[in-house]
Amino acid sequence: GRVAVLAGGWSSERQVALWSGEGIQAALVSKGVDATLIDATPEIVLSLGKQGFDRVFNILHGTGGEDGTVQAALELQGIPYTGSGVLASALAMDKLRTKRLWKAEGLPTPEWLWIECESDLDLAAQRFGFPLILKPSEEGSSVGVSKVKSDAELRSAWRLARGDTERVVMAERFIGGGSYGHEFTCAIVAGVALPTIQIVPDGEFYDYNAKYLSDRTRYHCPSGLPDALEAEAQAICLRAFEILGASGWGRVDFMLDADNRPWLIEANLVPGMTSHSLVPMAAKVRGIDYASLCWQILEGTLA
Ligand code: DAL
Ligand code: MG
Repeated sequence: GRVAVLAGGWSSERQVALWSGEGIQAALVSKGVDATLIDATPEIVLSLGKQGFDRVFNILHGTGGEDGTVQAALELQGIPYTGSGVLASALAMDKLRTKRLWKAEGLPTPEWLWIECESDLDLAAQRFGFPLILKPSEEGSSVGVSKVKSDAELRSAWRLARGDTERVVMAERFIGGGSYGHEFTCAIVAGVALPTIQIVPDGEFYDYNAKYLSDRTRYHCPSGLPDALEAEAQAICLRAFEILGASGWGRVDFMLDADNRPWLIEANLVPGMTSHSLVPMAAKVRGIDYASLCWQILEGTLA
């Protein structure tokens, strides 16, 4: 059958999705799959059925492709696709509601505050102190995210998070100080948690530059967590994924506090698959090369 690799798209993560898609299309072809790279627009997504595609490898990050919209369009055309369905995708794209759900289920996620108006910034500063994190609720790749270190930076960080489109913004208590590291992620493929990765950015935090452009970000996989903590973190991430109703594959990000306890940051249900990306890195440690990983993810559409 013919596989459409849906990439690019119309979110702020468009470029990342093109990088991801190019890698995946080449990998699938190397596995003998008839795969076509498609720079997605809404019109193209709606015509995939008519164009004779049998299934979709969806690697659209962010708005449209990761939030349930494209998933719904594919459902209506009866085309199987990789990753999670409509509900989980929509939920995971919304960090505020993701956190409400995790908290209600007793999972650890840093305290947060929805910044509805400017005065909420001061409330957040009082409640969380500095540094605090300010970010759009529905973005990816650290677009619009700031680690705010003082009152003086609050308002400019808020404007950055809101952007031109008045995005919904949240503040979050900063988690850090653990002796095993700060920032971690856990890839999940076919219902299995892969070894966690520790991320050590060269700059202040793991921003867009550190994610895709810098060669100075360091990654450790295996992450160096003691076995018991590694197993606990993997279990928490898997549970976080399942509570959202997610399926197929994804990546759950977490941080360690001063007592080395894991705190869930977010779930990415169409995580990056670029040459710098994390899911391929974790798969490699398990002996799964990039092409086999793409194949495994595609196999999820057969389930
Ligand atoms: N949002 C980016 C693509 C990631 O999570 O990898
Ligand atoms: Mg994300």
